Amino acid sequence: MPHSVDDLNPSAHPIEPFRIKAIEPIHALSRSEREKRLSDSGFNLFNIRAEDVYIDLLTDSGTGAMSDRQWAGLLRGDESYAGSRNFVHLEKTVRELTGYPYVIPTHQGRAAEHLLFSALLDPGDYVVSNSHFDTTRANVMGRGAFPIDLPDPHCADVDDSYPFKGDIDLEALARVLDQHRDRVKCCLLTITNNTVGGHPLSLANAQAARRIVADYGVPLYFDAARFAENAWFLSQREESQKGKAITAIVRTMFEIGDGCMVSAKKDGLASIGGFLAFRDAELVRRLKELMVIVEGFPTYGGLAGRDIEAMTLGLEEVTDPAYLSYRVGQVNWLGEQLAAAGARIVRPVGGHAVFIDAGALYPHIEPDSFPGQALAVAFYREGGVRTVEIGSLMFGGADPETGAPSHPAHELVRLAIPRRVYTVSHLNHVVETFAAIFRRRHEARGFEVEYQVPQLRHFTARLREAAPRSVVQPI
Ligand code: F0G
Repeated sequence: MPHSVDDLNPSAHPIEPFRIKAIEPIHALSRSEREKRLSDSGFNLFNIRAEDVYIDLLTDSGTGAMSDRQWAGLLRGDESYAGSRNFVHLEKTVRELTGYPYVIPTHQGRAAEHLLFSALLDPGDYVVSNSHFDTTRANVMGRGAFPIDLPDPHCADVDDSYPFKGDIDLEALARVLDQHRDRVKCCLLTITNNTVGGHPLSLANAQAARRIVADYGVPLYFDAARFAENAWFLSQREESQKGKAITAIVRTMFEIGDGCMVSAKKDGLASIGGFLAFRDAELVRRLKELMVIVEGFPTYGGLAGRDIEAMTLGLEEVTDPAYLSYRVGQVNWLGEQLAAAGARIVRPVGGHAVFIDAGALYPHIEPDSFPGQALAVAFYREGGVRTVEIGSLMFGGADPETGAPSHPAHELVRLAIPRRVYTVSHLNHVVETFAAIFRRRHEARGFEVEYQVPQLRHFTARLREAAPRSVVQPI
């Protein structure tokens, strides 16, 4: 049985290591209905109803299918206010996975971020990271602190297939610590590194980062939403980890750090949930004090007992190598099919999503006119496929210090694949949709902002399509 993406024929979709027991009907709207939904939504796919989407690749978060074991686990929910048996199960499972003694459930990842940064950060402090996810960044900024992204330099080149593009730039890390030694309150390593393409962070890099921050007495935490996919990549790519059990690689990674915050909506294979886990008893005492006011008693953390059980079982299931081989192989398959249809994609293909370079597809649309949003709209218009822009709409805007327009390095669109949900025929539809978009790429138009808020504007912005160009030049 092939267990490695490298063993798989990239043109063959991996066989699902499960069969389907419950189904959820989906249907496609007509093109004119889709046009109407787009204009009604202000060309913002977050404003479209899920039932009006045919294939939903907006996120891999909370959108996976649960196993029969997890559904059965819901009935074992213990809804006691304090000390439920589901918490005891979660605590045991997380201790085994991470080696951290103290475990606190939260209702999702951003609640964990909010709690940790409330306890840790004061105005003017810094958090250094291989890259902050957008809610993580907003939670740091919400404390008046500064999130500093130090991605690996290989990320600058979309085509560079360096195997550990999720690493942190160690030289830059040492420099920032040297310059701002008293203000850096933690180093946060995101695994896998979602923002740059879902790439893995190597153990060697995490160990080197640990050595650097230890000299300054700065703690190291993981934002570990996709810890199992990260470990799978290391089992395939990092010489020292080849042949090791996924659980052993997961544990080795966590042992490098002082704690973690986790959204269980990804590798927890759950619809809702998250947790914090740490070594430091004093930090945990402060977090528990804070959380009673906003999240709930520390043994349920804003969750029903049944949901704690579902996420705990998901955390147990996700390290199965047959599952991870299929999972990462499916995403890789989609990436290769899209590349064959003409897409410039971020290389190597990430663990949870394919990222298409919309700037390369639409060189005639300036970053200020949101080429990524143009592609995301085209996916819905052509095929009812929902994706998300990760470019100037999400990360651009006025520079907070100078007021000048700022843009991220790349204008990307992310196709995030829900876990255990879509089959090869669903994904074939996505590839065919892209092929149609590619054929008519010269006709695409940019967008102008009609309405926006200052933070996380992509969730609520309303846009209008820019006027068509008078002369259509073939690229
Ligand atoms: N950290 C990372 C790396 C994430 O990708 C996310 C969520 C979070 C934290 C926040 O967790 O959603 O449970 O509050 N990412 C989703 C995405 C939303 O689409 O990538 P949450």
